Amino acid sequence: MNDGNEIPVIGLGTGGMKGSDGAATITSAIHNGYRLIDSAYNYENEGTVGEAVRRISVAREDLFITSKLPGRYHHYKDAVKTIQESLYRANLDYYDLYLIHWPNPKQGHYVEAWQALIDAKKWGLIRSIGVSNFLPEHMEHLEKETGVLPSINQIELHPFFNQAEQRKWHEKHDVITESWSPLARANDVFENKTIQAIAKKHRKSAGQIILRWHYQINAVSIPRSSSPIRQKENISIFDFKLDQNDMEILASLTKPEGRINGQHPAEYEEF
Ligand SMILES: NC(=O)c1ccc[n+]([C@@H]2O[C@H](COP(=O)([O-])OP(=O)(O)OC[C@H]3O[C@@H](n4cnc5c(N)ncnc54)[C@H](OP(=O)(O)O)[C@@H]3O)[C@@H](O)[C@H]2O)c1
Repeated sequence: MNDGNEIPVIGLGTGGMKGSDGAATITSAIHNGYRLIDSAYNYENEGTVGEAVRRISVAREDLFITSKLPGRYHHYKDAVKTIQESLYRANLDYYDLYLIHWPNPKQGHYVEAWQALIDAKKWGLIRSIGVSNFLPEHMEHLEKETGVLPSINQIELHPFFNQAEQRKWHEKHDVITESWSPLARANDVFENKTIQAIAKKHRKSAGQIILRWHYQINAVSIPRSSSPIRQKENISIFDFKLDQNDMEILASLTKPEGRINGQHPAEYEEF
C-alpha cells in the first residue's frame, strides 16, 4: 500500500456473521488460510471477530483485521471514541486497517472523520487508514484538506459493475481498490452463461473465475461464505490464469446501473 504496509490479496467478508456461529465460521476461514478479515462497527460483529482471533493459534501479527467507522460518528471526537470502542469490542490493541464506511457527502463531515483516522494511526491504534464508497472528488477533498490520501478504497465491484473509471483513478493515485460484494452477493453471477463457459474452459467454478478476475484487475476481494467448502474454493485461485480474451469477455458484462441496490455514494447515506 502507499504507506508501506502490505495487505493480503483476498480476505473474508463477514457481514451477518455474529455470535458463536459467526465465530465458528470465521475460525474455519482462518484455518482454511484466510488472513484478512473484513468487519465493521455497523455489522455489530467486531466482538465475534475478536473471539475468532482468540480461538485460533495464528499469531496476531500474521492476521490483517479491518473495521469501519459508521456515518453517525464522523465528528472528530465521536470518531476517536468510536475507533477506541471498536478496539474494546474486539479486544484488540490495534486494527490493521480502519475505513470510513460511507462518505455521506450531504452531511459534510468526512474530513473530520479522516483527521481522526490520521491521528489514531499516529497513536498506534490503526496501522493503515482508508475509506469505503468514496468517489474521486471525496478523496481529492481529503488530500486537499489534510495532505493525506487513503491507502485503500473499498467499493462495490463485481463483473456486473466493474468501476473501470474509478479503478483508473485509484491506480493513478496509488490507492488500492478493494471489492465489496465481489460475487455480486450471489445474484445471477453463478447462473450467468458467459461466466459458466469460462469456468468450463478452465475447469474451475464460476466463483473462482470471478475471484481470479478481481485478482487480475489488481483488486483485493473479500468474498463472504459461511461454508468451509466454498471458503476453500474461493481462495484456491492461484493455479490458473485468465487470458486476455477471458478478461475482455468478463469486462463486457458490466452495466451502467449494475449496483446491486443502487447505492450511489453521492446520494446514498448510511449512518
Ligand atoms: N463497505 C461497504 O459498504 C460494504 C457493503 C457490502 C459488503 N461489504 C463487505 O463485503 C463482504 C462481501 O460482500 P457480500 O457479503 O455482500 O457478498 P458476496 O461476498 O459478493 O456474496 C456472498 C454470497 O455468495 C455466496 N457464495 C460465496 N462463495 C460462493 C461460491 N464459491 N459459490 C456459490 N456461492 C457462493 C455466499 O453464500 P454461502 O455463505 O452459502 O457460501 C453468500 O450468499 C461483506 O461480507 C462485507 O464484509 C462492504
